[in-house]
Amino acid sequence: MRRDLGDFQTPPELAAALVARLGPIGARWPRVLEPTCGRGAFLEAVCSALAPPREVVGVEIQSSHGTEARARLALLPSPTRSTILEADVFGLDLRTDPPWTEGGPLLVLGNPPWITNAELGRLGSANLPPKRNVKSLSGLAARTGAANFDLGEAVWLKLIDELADQDPTIALLCKTSVARAVLHHLHRTGRPVSDAEMIEIDARRWFGASVGACFLKLTLGAGGSTGRVAVFSDPEASRPRCAMGSVQGLFASDLETLETLDFAVGRSPVCWRQGVKHDTARVLELTERPDGTLCNGLGEEVVVELSFVYPLLKGTDLARRAIDRPRRRLIVTQEKLGGETRDLAERAPLLWSYLRDRAGGFDKRRSSIYQNAPPFALFGIGPYTFAPYKAAVAGIHRPSRFRAVGPVDGRPTVFDDTCYLLPCRSALEAAVLAAAADDPIARRVLRALTFADAKRPVTKAVLQMIDLGGVLARADAPALIDRVAEILRDDLGLDDGTDDAIKAEVERLIPLLSPSDDRKLERPASDVVTAESPSASSDRPA
Ligand SMILES: C[S@@+](CC[C@H](N)C(=O)[O-])C[C@H]1O[C@@H](n2cnc3c(N)ncnc32)[C@H](O)[C@@H]1O
Repeated sequence: MRRDLGDFQTPPELAAALVARLGPIGARWPRVLEPTCGRGAFLEAVCSALAPPREVVGVEIQSSHGTEARARLALLPSPTRSTILEADVFGLDLRTDPPWTEGGPLLVLGNPPWITNAELGRLGSANLPPKRNVKSLSGLAARTGAANFDLGEAVWLKLIDELADQDPTIALLCKTSVARAVLHHLHRTGRPVSDAEMIEIDARRWFGASVGACFLKLTLGAGGSTGRVAVFSDPEASRPRCAMGSVQGLFASDLETLETLDFAVGRSPVCWRQGVKHDTARVLELTERPDGTLCNGLGEEVVVELSFVYPLLKGTDLARRAIDRPRRRLIVTQEKLGGETRDLAERAPLLWSYLRDRAGGFDKRRSSIYQNAPPFALFGIGPYTFAPYKAAVAGIHRPSRFRAVGPVDGRPTVFDDTCYLLPCRSALEAAVLAAAADDPIARRVLRALTFADAKRPVTKAVLQMIDLGGVLARADAPALIDRVAEILRDDLGLDDGTDDAIKAEVERLIPLLSPSDDRKLERPASDVVTAESPSASSDRPA
Protein backbone atom coordinates (compact mmCIF):
# COMPACT_ATOMS: atom_id res chain seq x y z
CA MET A 1 0.00 0.00 0.00
CA ARG A 2 1.37 3.44 -0.93
CA ARG A 3 0.69 5.84 1.93
CA ASP A 4 1.13 8.89 -0.28
CA LEU A 5 -1.64 7.58 -2.52
CA GLY A 6 -4.10 7.38 0.38
CA ASP A 7 -4.58 3.78 -0.63
CA PHE A 8 -7.44 2.13 1.30
CA GLN A 9 -9.06 -0.34 -1.10
CA THR A 10 -12.78 -0.76 -0.49
CA PRO A 11 -13.77 -4.27 0.67
CA PRO A 12 -16.02 -5.81 -2.07
CA GLU A 13 -18.81 -6.44 0.47
CA LEU A 14 -18.99 -2.72 1.35
CA ALA A 15 -18.82 -1.64 -2.31
CA ALA A 16 -21.70 -4.04 -3.12
CA ALA A 17 -23.82 -2.74 -0.20
CA LEU A 18 -23.33 0.89 -1.26
CA VAL A 19 -24.03 0.14 -4.91
CA ALA A 20 -27.21 -1.72 -3.89
CA ARG A 21 -28.28 1.41 -2.01
CA LEU A 22 -28.11 3.44 -5.19
CA GLY A 23 -30.85 1.26 -6.77
CA PRO A 24 -30.82 -0.12 -10.32
CA ILE A 25 -27.78 1.74 -11.64
CA GLY A 26 -28.27 1.10 -15.36
CA ALA A 27 -31.89 2.23 -15.24
CA ARG A 28 -30.80 5.69 -14.16
CA TRP A 29 -27.19 6.09 -15.25
CA PRO A 30 -25.87 4.58 -18.49
CA ARG A 31 -22.35 5.84 -17.62
CA VAL A 32 -20.28 5.33 -14.46
CA LEU A 33 -16.92 7.02 -13.77
CA GLU A 34 -14.59 5.82 -10.98
CA PRO A 35 -11.99 8.62 -10.70
CA THR A 36 -9.45 6.68 -8.56
CA CYS A 37 -10.59 3.11 -9.14
CA GLY A 38 -7.80 1.15 -7.43
CA ARG A 39 -8.35 -2.60 -7.84
CA GLY A 40 -11.87 -1.92 -9.08
CA ALA A 41 -14.13 -2.85 -6.13
CA PHE A 42 -16.82 -0.31 -7.09
CA LEU A 43 -16.60 -1.01 -10.81
CA GLU A 44 -16.95 -4.74 -10.18
CA ALA A 45 -19.98 -4.07 -7.95
CA VAL A 46 -21.77 -1.94 -10.56
CA CYS A 47 -20.98 -4.30 -13.42
CA SER A 48 -22.27 -7.31 -11.47
CA ALA A 49 -25.45 -5.53 -10.30
CA LEU A 50 -28.83 -6.62 -11.66
CA ALA A 51 -29.10 -3.54 -13.85
CA PRO A 52 -25.53 -2.70 -14.90
CA PRO A 53 -24.70 0.55 -16.73
CA ARG A 54 -23.83 0.49 -20.42
CA GLU A 55 -20.31 1.84 -19.87
CA VAL A 56 -17.78 2.33 -17.06
CA VAL A 57 -14.50 4.27 -17.07
CA GLY A 58 -11.98 3.93 -14.25
CA VAL A 59 -8.87 6.04 -13.61
CA GLU A 60 -6.00 4.76 -11.49
CA ILE A 61 -2.46 5.98 -10.96
CA GLN A 62 -0.94 2.67 -9.84
CA SER A 63 -0.38 0.38 -12.75
CA SER A 64 -0.64 -2.84 -10.70
CA HIS A 65 -4.05 -1.78 -9.36
CA GLY A 66 -5.23 -0.81 -12.84
CA THR A 67 -4.17 -4.20 -14.22
CA GLU A 68 -6.02 -5.98 -11.44
CA ALA A 69 -9.17 -3.88 -12.03
CA ARG A 70 -9.08 -4.76 -15.76
CA ALA A 71 -8.66 -8.45 -14.97
CA ARG A 72 -11.55 -8.42 -12.47
CA LEU A 73 -13.91 -6.78 -14.94
CA ALA A 74 -12.84 -9.12 -17.75
CA LEU A 75 -13.96 -12.12 -15.66
CA LEU A 76 -17.51 -10.80 -15.28
CA PRO A 77 -20.25 -12.01 -17.62
CA SER A 78 -21.36 -8.38 -17.93
CA PRO A 79 -22.53 -6.53 -21.05
CA THR A 80 -20.91 -3.34 -19.72
CA ARG A 81 -18.15 -1.77 -21.81
CA SER A 82 -15.20 -0.93 -19.56
CA THR A 83 -12.02 1.16 -19.86
CA ILE A 84 -9.36 1.59 -17.19
CA LEU A 85 -7.09 4.58 -17.75
CA GLU A 86 -3.70 4.44 -16.09
CA ALA A 87 -3.37 8.12 -15.24
CA ASP A 88 -3.11 10.78 -12.58
CA VAL A 89 -6.67 12.01 -12.24
CA PHE A 90 -5.40 15.53 -11.51
CA GLY A 91 -3.71 15.55 -14.91
CA LEU A 92 -6.97 14.81 -16.75
CA ASP A 93 -9.72 17.09 -17.93
CA LEU A 94 -12.75 15.06 -16.91
CA ARG A 95 -14.96 16.95 -19.37
CA THR A 96 -13.05 15.65 -22.38
CA ASP A 97 -10.50 12.97 -21.47
CA PRO A 98 -12.63 9.95 -20.48
CA PRO A 99 -13.17 8.04 -23.77
CA TRP A 100 -16.96 7.69 -23.53
CA THR A 101 -18.74 5.94 -26.34
CA GLU A 102 -22.11 6.32 -24.61
CA GLY A 103 -24.01 9.46 -23.65
CA GLY A 104 -26.63 10.12 -21.00
CA PRO A 105 -26.69 10.68 -17.24
CA LEU A 106 -23.44 10.15 -15.38
CA LEU A 107 -22.79 8.51 -12.02
CA VAL A 108 -19.40 9.18 -10.44
CA LEU A 109 -18.71 6.51 -7.87
CA GLY A 110 -15.76 5.52 -5.74
CA ASN A 111 -13.43 6.12 -2.88
CA PRO A 112 -10.78 8.81 -3.45
CA PRO A 113 -7.46 8.87 -1.53
CA TRP A 114 -7.50 9.40 2.22
CA ILE A 115 -4.56 11.68 2.85
CA THR A 116 -3.96 15.33 3.63
CA ASN A 117 -1.54 17.60 1.82
CA ALA A 118 0.35 18.06 5.09
CA GLU A 119 0.96 14.29 5.23
CA LEU A 120 1.91 14.35 1.53
CA GLY A 121 4.36 17.13 2.29
CA ARG A 122 5.94 15.08 5.08
CA LEU A 123 6.22 12.09 2.72
CA GLY A 124 7.76 14.33 0.05
CA SER A 125 5.07 13.25 -2.40
CA ALA A 126 3.95 15.23 -5.43
CA ASN A 127 0.54 13.53 -5.54
CA LEU A 128 -1.31 16.81 -5.54
CA PRO A 129 -3.48 18.69 -7.99
CA PRO A 130 -1.23 20.99 -10.06
CA LYS A 131 -1.24 24.51 -8.56
CA ARG A 132 -2.59 26.01 -11.77
CA ASN A 133 -5.53 23.64 -11.65
CA VAL A 134 -6.13 24.08 -7.98
CA LYS A 135 -6.21 27.83 -8.28
CA SER A 136 -8.85 27.69 -10.95
CA LEU A 137 -11.14 25.63 -8.71
CA SER A 138 -13.48 28.15 -7.20
CA GLY A 139 -13.10 28.61 -3.48
CA LEU A 140 -10.20 26.22 -3.24
CA ALA A 141 -7.36 28.64 -3.83
CA ALA A 142 -7.56 30.16 -0.38
CA ARG A 143 -7.50 26.80 1.26
CA THR A 144 -4.51 25.32 -0.54
CA GLY A 145 -2.40 27.76 1.43
CA ALA A 146 -3.84 26.30 4.63
CA ALA A 147 -1.86 23.65 6.45
CA ASN A 148 -4.31 20.83 6.03
CA PHE A 149 -6.14 20.01 2.89
CA ASP A 150 -7.44 16.57 2.01
CA LEU A 151 -6.66 14.95 -1.32
CA GLY A 152 -10.16 13.43 -1.28
CA GLU A 153 -11.53 16.96 -1.10
CA ALA A 154 -9.43 17.96 -4.11
CA VAL A 155 -10.97 15.06 -6.06
CA TRP A 156 -14.48 16.11 -5.00
CA LEU A 157 -13.93 19.73 -6.03
CA LYS A 158 -12.39 18.75 -9.35
CA LEU A 159 -15.38 16.53 -10.13
CA ILE A 160 -17.82 19.29 -9.18
CA ASP A 161 -15.92 21.91 -11.14
CA GLU A 162 -15.43 19.92 -14.32
CA LEU A 163 -18.61 17.86 -14.44
CA ALA A 164 -21.30 20.16 -12.98
CA ASP A 165 -22.62 20.96 -16.48
CA GLN A 166 -23.63 17.30 -16.85
CA ASP A 167 -25.72 17.33 -13.63
CA PRO A 168 -24.00 14.15 -12.42
CA THR A 169 -24.71 12.15 -9.31
CA ILE A 170 -21.47 11.92 -7.35
CA ALA A 171 -21.30 9.26 -4.63
CA LEU A 172 -17.97 8.87 -2.87
CA LEU A 173 -16.68 7.26 0.29
CA CYS A 174 -14.70 9.86 2.21
CA LYS A 175 -13.86 11.22 5.63
CA THR A 176 -16.82 13.03 7.20
CA SER A 177 -14.63 16.11 7.50
CA VAL A 178 -14.16 16.02 3.70
CA ALA A 179 -17.90 15.55 3.15
CA ARG A 180 -18.61 18.55 5.33
CA ALA A 181 -16.03 20.68 3.54
CA VAL A 182 -17.61 19.73 0.19
CA LEU A 183 -21.13 20.57 1.40
CA HIS A 184 -19.84 23.83 2.80
CA HIS A 185 -18.16 24.61 -0.53
CA LEU A 186 -21.39 23.94 -2.44
CA HIS A 187 -23.35 26.05 -0.01
CA ARG A 188 -20.86 28.91 -0.23
CA THR A 189 -20.61 28.88 -4.00
CA GLY A 190 -24.38 28.55 -4.40
CA ARG A 191 -24.08 25.52 -6.68
CA PRO A 192 -27.48 23.86 -6.85
CA VAL A 193 -27.80 20.33 -5.46
CA SER A 194 -31.05 18.57 -6.22
CA ASP A 195 -30.59 15.62 -3.91
CA ALA A 196 -28.17 14.85 -1.08
CA GLU A 197 -27.67 12.06 1.43
CA MET A 198 -24.92 10.89 3.69
CA ILE A 199 -24.52 7.33 4.93
CA GLU A 200 -22.27 6.93 7.94
CA ILE A 201 -19.61 4.25 7.60
CA ASP A 202 -17.78 2.41 10.35
CA ALA A 203 -14.24 3.18 9.13
CA ARG A 204 -12.63 1.10 11.86
CA ARG A 205 -14.59 -1.99 10.80
CA TRP A 206 -14.07 -1.60 7.05
CA PHE A 207 -10.70 0.15 6.79
CA GLY A 208 -9.08 -0.24 10.22
CA ALA A 209 -8.99 3.58 10.35
CA SER A 210 -10.08 5.61 13.36
CA VAL A 211 -11.69 8.49 11.53
CA GLY A 212 -15.27 9.59 10.87
CA ALA A 213 -16.20 8.32 7.40
CA CYS A 214 -19.26 8.35 5.18
CA PHE A 215 -20.63 7.73 1.71
CA LEU A 216 -21.78 11.11 0.45
CA LYS A 217 -24.18 11.11 -2.49
CA LEU A 218 -25.01 14.37 -4.24
CA THR A 219 -26.91 15.04 -7.43
CA LEU A 220 -25.86 18.35 -8.93
CA GLY A 221 -28.31 20.60 -10.73
CA ALA A 222 -31.43 22.53 -9.84
CA GLY A 223 -34.73 20.84 -9.11
CA GLY A 224 -36.62 19.86 -5.99
CA SER A 225 -33.86 20.71 -3.55
CA THR A 226 -34.84 21.03 0.11
CA GLY A 227 -31.31 22.13 1.06
CA ARG A 228 -31.22 19.21 3.51
CA VAL A 229 -28.78 16.34 3.63
CA ALA A 230 -30.44 13.23 5.07
CA VAL A 231 -28.01 11.32 7.31
CA PHE A 232 -28.31 7.53 7.65
CA SER A 233 -26.45 5.66 10.36
CA ASP A 234 -25.35 2.73 8.17
CA PRO A 235 -25.77 1.37 4.63
CA GLU A 236 -28.78 -0.73 5.65
CA ALA A 237 -30.68 2.09 7.43
CA SER A 238 -33.96 2.97 5.74
CA ARG A 239 -34.84 6.02 7.86
CA PRO A 240 -32.54 9.01 8.28
CA ARG A 241 -31.04 9.57 11.73
CA CYS A 242 -31.13 13.33 11.24
CA ALA A 243 -30.80 15.99 8.58
CA MET A 244 -27.89 18.36 8.11
CA GLY A 245 -28.21 21.69 6.37
CA SER A 246 -27.60 25.36 6.61
CA VAL A 247 -29.07 27.75 9.12
CA GLN A 248 -28.45 31.43 8.42
CA GLY A 249 -25.27 30.68 6.51
CA LEU A 250 -23.91 28.09 8.93
CA PHE A 251 -23.79 24.40 8.04
CA ALA A 252 -25.39 22.54 10.96
CA SER A 253 -25.40 18.88 11.95
CA ASP A 254 -29.02 18.52 13.10
CA LEU A 255 -31.69 20.73 11.57
CA GLU A 256 -34.65 19.07 13.35
CA THR A 257 -33.27 19.84 16.80
CA LEU A 258 -32.64 23.43 15.74
CA GLU A 259 -36.21 23.73 14.48
CA THR A 260 -37.56 22.38 17.79
CA LEU A 261 -35.43 24.87 19.74
CA ASP A 262 -35.82 27.77 17.33
CA PHE A 263 -36.46 30.18 20.24
CA ALA A 264 -32.81 29.66 21.22
CA VAL A 265 -31.34 30.00 17.72
CA GLY A 266 -30.56 33.33 16.11
CA ARG A 267 -27.88 35.87 15.56
CA SER A 268 -26.76 37.04 18.96
CA PRO A 269 -26.36 40.79 19.45
CA VAL A 270 -23.47 40.19 21.83
CA CYS A 271 -20.14 39.68 20.19
CA TRP A 272 -18.12 36.61 21.11
CA ARG A 273 -14.41 37.34 20.94
CA GLN A 274 -11.50 35.05 20.29
CA GLY A 275 -8.55 35.01 22.69
CA VAL A 276 -5.14 36.48 21.94
CA LYS A 277 -3.24 35.15 18.93
CA HIS A 278 0.52 35.59 19.03
CA ASP A 279 2.27 32.46 17.64
CA THR A 280 5.26 32.95 19.91
CA ALA A 281 4.35 30.86 22.94
CA ARG A 282 7.93 30.23 23.98
CA VAL A 283 8.64 33.94 24.37
CA LEU A 284 5.29 35.45 25.38
CA GLU A 285 3.80 32.68 27.52
CA LEU A 286 5.29 32.42 30.99
CA THR A 287 4.78 30.13 33.96
CA GLU A 288 5.03 31.18 37.54
CA ARG A 289 7.50 29.14 39.58
CA PRO A 290 6.76 28.29 43.23
CA ASP A 291 9.13 31.08 44.30
CA GLY A 292 7.06 33.59 42.29
CA THR A 293 9.63 34.12 39.51
CA LEU A 294 8.53 33.89 35.89
CA CYS A 295 9.94 31.47 33.36
CA ASN A 296 9.43 31.39 29.58
CA GLY A 297 9.12 28.38 27.25
CA LEU A 298 12.86 28.52 26.58
CA GLY A 299 13.50 27.78 30.27
CA GLU A 300 14.78 31.33 30.92
CA GLU A 301 13.88 33.45 33.90
CA VAL A 302 11.99 36.52 32.73
CA VAL A 303 12.19 39.91 34.38
CA VAL A 304 10.00 42.52 32.65
CA GLU A 305 7.62 45.29 33.72
CA LEU A 306 4.75 43.38 35.38
CA SER A 307 2.16 45.83 34.16
CA PHE A 308 2.47 44.10 30.77
CA VAL A 309 2.03 40.60 32.20
CA TYR A 310 -1.48 39.13 32.59
CA PRO A 311 -2.85 35.88 33.97
CA LEU A 312 -3.42 33.51 31.03
CA LEU A 313 -5.85 30.65 30.48
CA LYS A 314 -5.49 28.24 27.56
CA GLY A 315 -8.31 26.11 26.14
CA THR A 316 -7.13 23.03 28.05
CA ASP A 317 -7.23 25.00 31.34
CA LEU A 318 -10.96 25.65 30.95
CA ALA A 319 -11.62 21.93 31.31
CA ARG A 320 -10.21 22.14 34.86
CA ARG A 321 -11.65 23.62 38.03
CA ALA A 322 -10.37 27.10 38.82
CA ILE A 323 -8.28 25.87 41.75
CA ASP A 324 -6.57 23.16 39.66
CA ARG A 325 -5.35 25.41 36.84
CA PRO A 326 -1.67 26.11 36.25
CA ARG A 327 -0.49 29.64 36.93
CA ARG A 328 0.31 30.88 33.45
CA ARG A 329 1.04 34.42 32.35
CA LEU A 330 1.03 36.20 29.01
CA ILE A 331 3.08 39.21 28.00
CA VAL A 332 0.65 41.59 26.30
CA THR A 333 2.44 44.12 24.14
CA GLN A 334 -0.56 46.11 22.87
CA GLU A 335 -3.83 47.50 24.19
CA LYS A 336 -5.63 47.48 20.87
CA LEU A 337 -5.32 45.91 17.45
CA GLY A 338 -2.50 47.55 15.48
CA GLY A 339 -1.42 49.59 18.54
CA GLU A 340 2.12 51.02 18.41
CA THR A 341 4.77 48.95 20.18
CA ARG A 342 7.97 50.86 19.37
CA ASP A 343 7.34 53.19 22.30
CA LEU A 344 7.85 50.20 24.62
CA ALA A 345 11.54 51.09 24.40
CA GLU A 346 10.72 54.04 26.68
CA ARG A 347 7.58 52.83 28.45
CA ALA A 348 8.96 49.41 29.38
CA PRO A 349 12.72 49.18 28.74
CA LEU A 350 13.11 45.74 30.36
CA LEU A 351 10.31 44.29 28.23
CA TRP A 352 11.63 45.99 25.09
CA SER A 353 15.10 44.49 25.46
CA TYR A 354 13.59 41.07 26.38
CA LEU A 355 11.55 41.12 23.16
CA ARG A 356 14.33 42.53 20.99
CA ASP A 357 16.76 39.83 22.16
CA ARG A 358 14.22 37.20 21.07
CA ALA A 359 12.98 38.94 17.93
CA GLY A 360 13.95 35.91 15.81
CA GLY A 361 10.96 34.02 17.23
CA PHE A 362 8.65 36.79 16.03
CA ASP A 363 10.32 37.05 12.61
CA LYS A 364 9.49 33.38 12.01
CA ARG A 365 5.75 33.91 12.40
CA ARG A 366 4.37 32.66 9.13
CA SER A 367 0.84 34.04 9.14
CA SER A 368 0.38 36.95 6.75
CA ILE A 369 -1.55 38.86 9.45
CA TYR A 370 1.78 39.82 11.04
CA GLN A 371 3.12 41.39 7.86
CA ASN A 372 3.25 45.18 8.11
CA ALA A 373 2.10 44.95 11.75
CA PRO A 374 4.14 46.73 14.47
CA PRO A 375 6.96 44.64 15.95
CA PHE A 376 5.81 42.02 18.49
CA ALA A 377 2.17 42.62 17.49
CA LEU A 378 -0.70 40.47 18.75
CA PHE A 379 -4.12 39.70 17.31
CA GLY A 380 -7.41 39.19 19.08
CA ILE A 381 -6.69 42.17 21.25
CA GLY A 382 -9.01 45.04 22.20
CA PRO A 383 -10.83 46.56 25.16
CA TYR A 384 -12.60 43.23 25.72
CA THR A 385 -9.22 41.60 26.46
CA PHE A 386 -8.97 43.65 29.63
CA ALA A 387 -12.54 43.17 30.89
CA PRO A 388 -12.39 42.18 34.56
CA TYR A 389 -14.78 39.26 34.12
CA LYS A 390 -15.48 36.97 31.20
CA ALA A 391 -17.69 34.06 30.27
CA ALA A 392 -15.43 31.77 28.25
CA VAL A 393 -15.29 28.45 26.43
CA ALA A 394 -12.63 26.43 24.63
CA GLY A 395 -13.28 25.94 20.91
CA ILE A 396 -11.44 22.66 20.82
CA HIS A 397 -13.64 20.63 23.16
CA ARG A 398 -16.99 18.96 22.62
CA PRO A 399 -18.96 18.80 24.81
CA SER A 400 -17.73 22.19 25.83
CA ARG A 401 -17.78 23.71 29.27
CA PHE A 402 -18.48 27.41 29.71
CA ARG A 403 -16.75 29.06 32.63
CA ALA A 404 -16.88 32.38 34.38
CA VAL A 405 -13.41 33.81 34.86
CA GLY A 406 -12.33 36.71 37.01
CA PRO A 407 -9.17 38.67 37.71
CA VAL A 408 -6.14 37.10 39.38
CA ASP A 409 -4.24 39.27 41.84
CA GLY A 410 -6.31 42.19 40.57
CA ARG A 411 -5.32 41.70 36.92
CA PRO A 412 -7.80 40.64 34.23
CA THR A 413 -7.33 37.12 32.91
CA VAL A 414 -6.59 36.83 29.18
CA PHE A 415 -7.09 33.78 26.96
CA ASP A 416 -5.22 32.10 24.15
CA ASP A 417 -6.77 31.88 20.69
CA THR A 418 -8.31 28.45 21.25
CA CYS A 419 -10.85 30.19 23.52
CA TYR A 420 -13.86 32.41 22.92
CA LEU A 421 -15.17 34.87 25.45
CA LEU A 422 -17.83 37.40 26.30
CA PRO A 423 -16.42 40.36 28.24
CA CYS A 424 -18.52 41.20 31.30
CA ARG A 425 -18.94 44.09 33.71
CA SER A 426 -19.41 42.02 36.83
CA ALA A 427 -18.91 38.59 38.33
CA LEU A 428 -22.67 38.05 38.37
CA GLU A 429 -23.01 38.93 34.69
CA ALA A 430 -20.23 36.46 33.79
CA ALA A 431 -21.80 33.74 35.94
CA VAL A 432 -25.26 34.20 34.39
CA LEU A 433 -23.82 34.13 30.85
CA ALA A 434 -21.74 31.03 31.57
CA ALA A 435 -24.79 29.35 33.16
CA ALA A 436 -26.97 30.28 30.16
CA ALA A 437 -24.44 28.88 27.69
CA ASP A 438 -24.17 25.72 29.82
CA ASP A 439 -27.95 25.30 30.08
CA PRO A 440 -29.29 22.01 28.63
CA ILE A 441 -31.16 24.02 25.95
CA ALA A 442 -27.99 25.84 24.84
CA ARG A 443 -26.06 22.56 24.94
CA ARG A 444 -28.57 20.93 22.60
CA VAL A 445 -28.38 23.91 20.24
CA LEU A 446 -24.59 23.80 20.31
CA ARG A 447 -24.61 20.06 19.62
CA ALA A 448 -27.01 20.51 16.72
CA LEU A 449 -24.91 23.29 15.22
CA THR A 450 -21.57 21.49 15.44
CA PHE A 451 -19.85 18.30 14.33
CA ALA A 452 -18.23 15.94 16.82
CA ASP A 453 -15.20 15.20 14.63
CA ALA A 454 -14.41 18.79 13.71
CA LYS A 455 -10.96 19.96 14.83
CA ARG A 456 -12.48 23.08 16.38
CA PRO A 457 -16.19 22.30 16.84
CA VAL A 458 -17.01 25.54 18.63
CA THR A 459 -16.23 28.68 16.66
CA LYS A 460 -17.19 32.32 16.91
CA ALA A 461 -19.74 31.81 14.10
CA VAL A 462 -21.35 28.94 16.00
CA LEU A 463 -21.50 30.84 19.29
CA GLN A 464 -23.05 33.86 17.58
CA MET A 465 -25.94 31.59 16.55
CA ILE A 466 -27.04 30.83 20.11
CA ASP A 467 -29.75 33.17 21.36
CA LEU A 468 -28.76 33.31 25.02
CA GLY A 469 -31.75 35.58 25.71
CA GLY A 470 -34.07 32.85 24.41
CA VAL A 471 -32.21 30.28 26.50
CA LEU A 472 -32.51 32.35 29.69
CA ALA A 473 -36.20 33.04 29.08
CA ARG A 474 -37.07 29.33 28.71
CA ALA A 475 -34.54 27.73 31.05
CA ASP A 476 -35.70 25.85 34.14
CA ALA A 477 -35.44 28.83 36.53
CA PRO A 478 -34.53 27.03 39.81
CA ALA A 479 -31.89 24.91 38.05
CA LEU A 480 -30.50 28.01 36.35
CA ILE A 481 -30.25 29.89 39.66
CA ASP A 482 -28.48 26.92 41.27
CA ARG A 483 -26.04 26.78 38.36
CA VAL A 484 -25.28 30.51 38.58
CA ALA A 485 -24.63 30.18 42.33
CA GLU A 486 -22.38 27.18 41.69
CA ILE A 487 -20.41 29.06 39.02
CA LEU A 488 -20.02 32.06 41.29
CA ARG A 489 -18.68 29.78 44.01
CA ASP A 490 -16.53 27.34 42.01
CA ASP A 491 -15.27 29.55 39.17
CA LEU A 492 -15.03 32.88 40.94
CA GLY A 493 -14.73 31.97 44.63
CA LEU A 494 -17.79 34.10 45.55
CA ASP A 495 -20.57 33.07 47.93
CA ASP A 496 -22.71 36.17 47.76
CA GLY A 497 -25.07 35.46 44.86
CA THR A 498 -28.54 35.59 46.45
CA ASP A 499 -31.46 34.11 44.50
CA ASP A 500 -33.02 37.55 44.16
CA ALA A 501 -29.83 39.12 42.80
CA ILE A 502 -29.45 36.29 40.30
CA LYS A 503 -33.09 36.54 39.21
CA ALA A 504 -32.72 40.30 38.73
CA GLU A 505 -29.57 39.83 36.64
CA VAL A 506 -31.29 37.21 34.48
CA GLU A 507 -34.21 39.60 33.92
CA ARG A 508 -31.82 42.42 33.07
CA LEU A 509 -29.90 40.33 30.55
CA ILE A 510 -32.79 38.64 28.71
CA PRO A 511 -33.80 41.65 26.60
CA LEU A 512 -30.19 42.66 25.99
CA LEU A 513 -29.26 39.22 24.70
CA SER A 514 -32.21 38.61 22.46
CA PRO A 515 -31.63 39.12 18.73
CA SER A 516 -35.21 40.24 18.17
CA ASP A 517 -35.16 42.97 20.74
CA ASP A 518 -35.11 46.44 19.20
CA ARG A 519 -33.13 47.90 22.04
CA LYS A 520 -30.07 46.02 20.97
CA LEU A 521 -30.22 47.82 17.63
CA GLU A 522 -29.77 51.13 19.36
CA ARG A 523 -26.67 49.93 21.13
CA PRO A 524 -23.47 48.62 19.65
CA ALA A 525 -22.88 44.96 20.46
CA SER A 526 -19.94 45.79 22.65
CA ASP A 527 -22.21 47.89 24.85
CA VAL A 528 -24.55 45.07 25.71
CA VAL A 529 -22.14 43.01 27.71
CA THR A 530 -19.18 45.22 28.09
CA ALA A 531 -15.97 45.74 29.83
CA GLU A 532 -14.16 48.96 30.36
CA SER A 533 -10.96 49.42 28.47
CA PRO A 534 -8.02 49.70 30.83
CA SER A 535 -7.11 53.27 31.41
CA ALA A 536 -3.50 54.05 30.77
CA SER A 537 -3.03 55.13 34.35
CA SER A 538 -4.81 52.29 36.15
CA ASP A 539 -3.75 49.29 34.14
CA ARG A 540 -0.74 50.34 32.20
CA PRO A 541 2.55 51.84 33.07
CA ALA A 542 2.78 55.54 32.67
C1 LIG B 1 -8.79 4.97 -1.05
S1 LIG B 1 -8.11 4.08 -2.40
C2 LIG B 1 -9.60 3.48 -3.10
C3 LIG B 1 -9.46 2.66 -4.32
C4 LIG B 1 -10.76 2.31 -4.97
N1 LIG B 1 -11.45 3.52 -5.38
C5 LIG B 1 -11.63 1.50 -4.04
O1 LIG B 1 -12.72 1.98 -3.72
O2 LIG B 1 -11.22 0.42 -3.64
C6 LIG B 1 -7.55 5.41 -3.39
C7 LIG B 1 -6.97 5.02 -4.70
O3 LIG B 1 -6.61 6.23 -5.36
C8 LIG B 1 -5.46 5.97 -6.12
N2 LIG B 1 -4.85 7.28 -6.40
C9 LIG B 1 -4.16 8.06 -5.53
N3 LIG B 1 -3.79 9.21 -6.12
C10 LIG B 1 -4.28 9.15 -7.39
C11 LIG B 1 -4.23 10.06 -8.48
N4 LIG B 1 -3.60 11.24 -8.38
N5 LIG B 1 -4.84 9.70 -9.64
C12 LIG B 1 -5.48 8.51 -9.74
N6 LIG B 1 -5.55 7.61 -8.74
C13 LIG B 1 -4.96 7.93 -7.56
C14 LIG B 1 -4.63 5.06 -5.22
O4 LIG B 1 -3.66 4.35 -5.95
C15 LIG B 1 -5.73 4.15 -4.66
O5 LIG B 1 -5.92 3.03 -5.47
